Amino acid sequence: MKIALIGSGNVATVLGRLIAKNGHQVCQVISREAGNAKLLADELGAGFADFDGVPDRTADLFIIAISDAALENFFVKGALHDKIVVHTAGSVSKDILRNFAHSYGVLYPLQTLRKEMPEIPPIPLLIDGSDDGVTDFIEAFARSISQNVQRVNDEQRLKLHAAAVIVSNFTNHLYAIAEDFCIKENVHFDMLKPLIMETAARVNHASPAKVQTGPAIRKDILTLDKHLRLFTAHPKLRTMYLRLTDSIMNP
Ligand SMILES: NC(=O)c1ccc[n+]([C@@H]2O[C@H](COP(=O)([O-])OP(=O)(O)OC[C@H]3O[C@@H](n4cnc5c(N)ncnc54)[C@H](OP(=O)(O)O)[C@@H]3O)[C@@H](O)[C@H]2O)c1
Repeated sequence: MKIALIGSGNVATVLGRLIAKNGHQVCQVISREAGNAKLLADELGAGFADFDGVPDRTADLFIIAISDAALENFFVKGALHDKIVVHTAGSVSKDILRNFAHSYGVLYPLQTLRKEMPEIPPIPLLIDGSDDGVTDFIEAFARSISQNVQRVNDEQRLKLHAAAVIVSNFTNHLYAIAEDFCIKENVHFDMLKPLIMETAARVNHASPAKVQTGPAIRKDILTLDKHLRLFTAHPKLRTMYLRLTDSIMNP
């Protein structure tokens, strides 16, 4: 299949690599900044254009991977109304593309993606389409690049995106806070990495609520007090520790 990518950031880059790896051709990269479009296009052996350029109408599918806010006012010269166009956002309705193309939908990667990642991780794809035929087309394409494809509507995708923020973005933020704490308190954050890996791996075989450990679930008040005293010098961390402890104690 011939694919045109609109956007050249993290998602466009990783999806572009995945698409090429699975035997499709990325024929064009279109981005706001021509230099960014060229960089990705050169890597993928594709043509490139900025938003004033002409879209490659030989593409079977246009994938728009630009920031959520930019999707609201998205416009590319050269009509794509008779092409199949999808966006990649978790919390934006598919219908944002209604005035842009007759056949439209969503190809949302439920994974954290960065163009610097050395390997492409498994990427579940949540898909949707403007009608059954379009959804079938998007699903067939999605299955050609991912083992894990689900049809979900706007509301279900929004809920999964919100949950994704909690399990990925929030967890990573807690790692960042813990790393900062370790640096300031002169202990090695690296020592925590096996614990991070084991905690994450556990979700594969148990419900998280069933495998909670630590002083809060044990209601170990003496230990909790010691930690809170230690965090007096780190007020933001102390507040977060109290809130999460309360949430664990009172689920
Ligand atoms: N990264 C993830 O983990 C992830 C996962 C799932 C879904 N998504 C979704 O995928 C989409 C793209 O995310 P991303 O992580 O790839 O973003 P990103 O790396 O920050 O890249 C943003 C892209 O949007 C373009 N852009 C920014 N502002 C624009 C504007 N005002 N007008 C037109 N283009 C504009 C940029 O073009 P230039 O560089 O040419 O300026 C760039 O190509 C978002 O909807 C996001 O919610 C992201």
